[in-house]
Amino acid sequence: MSGGPKVVLVGPMGSGKTTVGALLAERLGVAYRDTDADIVAAQGREIADIFVEDGEDHFRDLERAAVRAAVAGHDGVLALGGGAILDAGTRALLRDLPVAYLSMGVEEAVRRVGLGAARPLLAVNPRKQWRELMDARRHLYEEVASAVVATDGRTPEEVAQAVLDALELKAA
Ligand code: S3P
Repeated sequence: MSGGPKVVLVGPMGSGKTTVGALLAERLGVAYRDTDADIVAAQGREIADIFVEDGEDHFRDLERAAVRAAVAGHDGVLALGGGAILDAGTRALLRDLPVAYLSMGVEEAVRRVGLGAARPLLAVNPRKQWRELMDARRHLYEEVASAVVATDGRTPEEVAQAVLDALELKAA
């Protein structure tokens, strides 16, 4: 049994969930966990391969199961994949948890992920792609969030501190 995660991080790809999550775990003296990594470990294949081989719907099912397991069994910092909030069942699992949404404006997003070959979603016309992605997701991030923390122009340390302040958490 566990009391549930101390912090859950949501937000789009490149918003710093992994880096900020690791820093928060260190500051709070707890473990860091990431549902993307849980899925890769359980499946023995990369997320891109799951998308190609089985489709996004199947990936979202795996992701919901990974979030359910982590919410029940992890009491540290938990980071979710950027699209996890698209699934209503996953959103329901986040109800009543301390969820921080790491937000990011379009210019920051393009700077951070626009040219990365590993992020093919934004490879062509990144500003337009980003706006469309966020138009579909912004309200869902906001729906699950207990706190919205802007990351633009901030270092990971500054974002981690802002999350602690917003959720009124004390470092260990
Ligand atoms: C996705 C984001 C990824 C990963 C998958 C889908 C998305 O996670 O879960 O590729 O739909 O935004 P990160 O946000 O950690 O990159």
